[in-house]
Amino acid sequence: MKTVTVLGATGSIGRRTLELVAAFPDQFRVGGLAARGSDVGLVAQQVRAHRPTAVALLDRAAVDRLARELPSPRPELLGGPEGLAAIAGDVAADVVVSALVGAAGLVPTLAAIRAGRTIALANKETLVMAGALMTHAAREHGVRLLPVDSEHSALFQCLAGAAPREVRRLVLTASGGPFRGRSRATLETVTVEQALRHPTWRMGAKITIDSATLMNKGLEVLEAHWLFGVPFERIDVVVHPQSIVHSMVEFVDRSVLAQLGMPDMGIPILYALTYPDRLPCPAPPLDLVELGTLTFEAPDESAFPCLGLARQAGRAGGAAPLVLNAANEVAVAAFLDGRCGFMDIPRLIGDALDAHAGAAVGDLGACLALDGAVRRSTEASVGVPAASARS
Ligand SMILES: NC(=O)c1ccc[n+]([C@@H]2O[C@H](COP(=O)([O-])OP(=O)(O)OC[C@H]3O[C@@H](n4cnc5c(N)ncnc54)[C@H](OP(=O)(O)O)[C@@H]3O)[C@@H](O)[C@H]2O)c1
Repeated sequence: MKTVTVLGATGSIGRRTLELVAAFPDQFRVGGLAARGSDVGLVAQQVRAHRPTAVALLDRAAVDRLARELPSPRPELLGGPEGLAAIAGDVAADVVVSALVGAAGLVPTLAAIRAGRTIALANKETLVMAGALMTHAAREHGVRLLPVDSEHSALFQCLAGAAPREVRRLVLTASGGPFRGRSRATLETVTVEQALRHPTWRMGAKITIDSATLMNKGLEVLEAHWLFGVPFERIDVVVHPQSIVHSMVEFVDRSVLAQLGMPDMGIPILYALTYPDRLPCPAPPLDLVELGTLTFEAPDESAFPCLGLARQAGRAGGAAPLVLNAANEVAVAAFLDGRCGFMDIPRLIGDALDAHAGAAVGDLGACLALDGAVRRSTEASVGVPAASARS
């Protein structure tokens, strides 16, 4: 029996995780649940269904509303950022599913690592912004970072038992998002509704926009670098619109291993929960005959500059990936709010990378301070013609 804490319980990954937990009542029980507090009714339902030890919501007013919805006896209720960190680090658990969205997950995920919990990592932004800090903490505390991202779960499975010197390159597959094949010029006028219409995956809004800009794949290149210790020049991206081959590893003898499955996040989530064992996942089976054709093409980095920006940040190292991530979070939120256009996203990120070039981050405090500074300066630039457009 494993106790599972879910950070981001109300999100797409969190809800799927809780479905799996409920599907295997003799394997899993819930430790803590955490969310921002946007949907108190849903959190109350989850509490009734899963009986966690404690619940944390970022929004303290939402904690009061939750207390009114749940008669005693109820789980311990915590509020604010320190409540999220306490759920991650103080509530007993075997596995902490890190599925908050964005930089908000960094402090709680680090708290879970420092408490020695196995991490099922969906929240790729934390590894992008603080890869050195997180992997160092994981090594120090003997903690495994098990990937939940389908691509990294695929790589993890293909790499099982391989020595680093045997690996020639990692190949991440990308669906290409809703705008695959579009020219850069036509992307200037796409709407939020169009960008949210992902062809193969149903996910939260932020990652869906990241998939449309290909920033998601850029973040995944950085995530793969930190998870598997492979240099950027040996991490390739190939567009595969059917999202059946989740990623591949090429070995030095030119043998290539791929992991395949239907696009259902239940598969990588369950593997992270049960690793190194496997359980029969309630997911649709893969029928290659019915699918018929799998196709592959190169990504169009001129129409989708975010992938190149992420590689640029990775090569620059230091604080550049943190700058990239913070600027991207602000730009995506502005796009979702209708405050900037789709192609302003890479412009805002490019400007932020230029403005904060050479910044350094040593510890958690420095990471959080720079994250805040980049957010403020990028927010101030939303709606202002980008430097590239002004010159
Ligand atoms: N969805 C996928 O298929 C998928 C696949 C691979 C990787 N991932 C990664 O997994 C993570 C979660 O993605 P998702 O699609 O599940 O996101 P989502 O549906 O938007 O859910 C996000 C969760 O995080 C909470 N949250 C958001 N902002 C917060 C904040 N500032 N402080 C505390 N909690 C906050 C939300 O709480 P409220 O509901 O209360 O707002 C919700 O529980 C992301 O890093 C994403 O890149 C997702």
